[in-house]
Amino acid sequence: MSQPSLPLVLMTHTLPAEWTMSLNGKIHLVCGPEDATFLAPILSDLLIEAEGLYCLLTVKVTEELLQRAPRLRVVSNMAVGYDNIDVPACTRRGIPVGNTPGVLTEATADLTLALLLSAARNLTQANQDARAGLWKTWSPTGWLGEDLHGATLGIIGMGKIGQAVAQRASVFGMQIIYTSLNEVQIPGWQRVDLTELLAKSDFISLHVPLDQQTRGLINQATLRQMKPSAILINTSRGSVVDTNALAEALQEGRIRGAALDVTDPEPLPAGHVLYNLPNCLIVPHIGSATRRTRRRMAELACANLLAGLAGERLPHCVNPQVYS
Ligand code: GLV
Repeated sequence: MSQPSLPLVLMTHTLPAEWTMSLNGKIHLVCGPEDATFLAPILSDLLIEAEGLYCLLTVKVTEELLQRAPRLRVVSNMAVGYDNIDVPACTRRGIPVGNTPGVLTEATADLTLALLLSAARNLTQANQDARAGLWKTWSPTGWLGEDLHGATLGIIGMGKIGQAVAQRASVFGMQIIYTSLNEVQIPGWQRVDLTELLAKSDFISLHVPLDQQTRGLINQATLRQMKPSAILINTSRGSVVDTNALAEALQEGRIRGAALDVTDPEPLPAGHVLYNLPNCLIVPHIGSATRRTRRRMAELACANLLAGLAGERLPHCVNPQVYS
């Protein structure tokens, strides 16, 4: 039922009610469907009145959308990445944009290690073969993988998630090298340039945000600089990797394998060449998908939203210039 005295907030998706309890009674909330990939027509029609937008990374917040939302006072993204949002366009309008850093660091690092281990030890293939009756005996040469202990992990992007991955990998006895804008003062972790990282790493894990500098960072040229035995792990954004170049490198055996939580496009269309490559493990963007983490992300996004509506500084704002 309409509550005209409360600010109208559009939520691009439907979330479990207990994740968004802090909004109860404070806003008039209209939600989109559970699996939205664009702004549902019912929400689109309400943009003209909306004061808040709570969105997920699958919905693009464009200049055109903002033009249709003249009353918008806050955009709250339930994700740490915010490449789905035209942030400069929001800033020009004085609209703060919130994201959810921190709460998903550990879960995403866990998934990165899970992918790394699965790819290193052929878990997908081994599981399929066991189910298909191909496990006849203890085979001394079957399903051979790679050791983590003593191997070099190259981390591209040493922010919170990159560091959490490095900590875990260190416990497995891996050598850590990394590229990053800033040096991280942890003994044993070595900052190198990209060329050195590509040449030396047995495993390469991507932890950069998607922006103009990182789009297509892993391409034909950079793939050629990797060891033929290298395994690439991507839990950042699909477009950091040139999909065609990766498919080609995997098909030609120029690198050993890839494990992808994110793809470009996302999702990959059915029958995509990457789905048919046994040396490519693909999961559906589940880096932060644990019950506790997703709930904490939703709650943080609520806190950002409510702060924006109250005219207060967002707990996590990606364009703090709006306050100056
Ligand atoms: C997930 O990919 C996120 O950015 O939170």
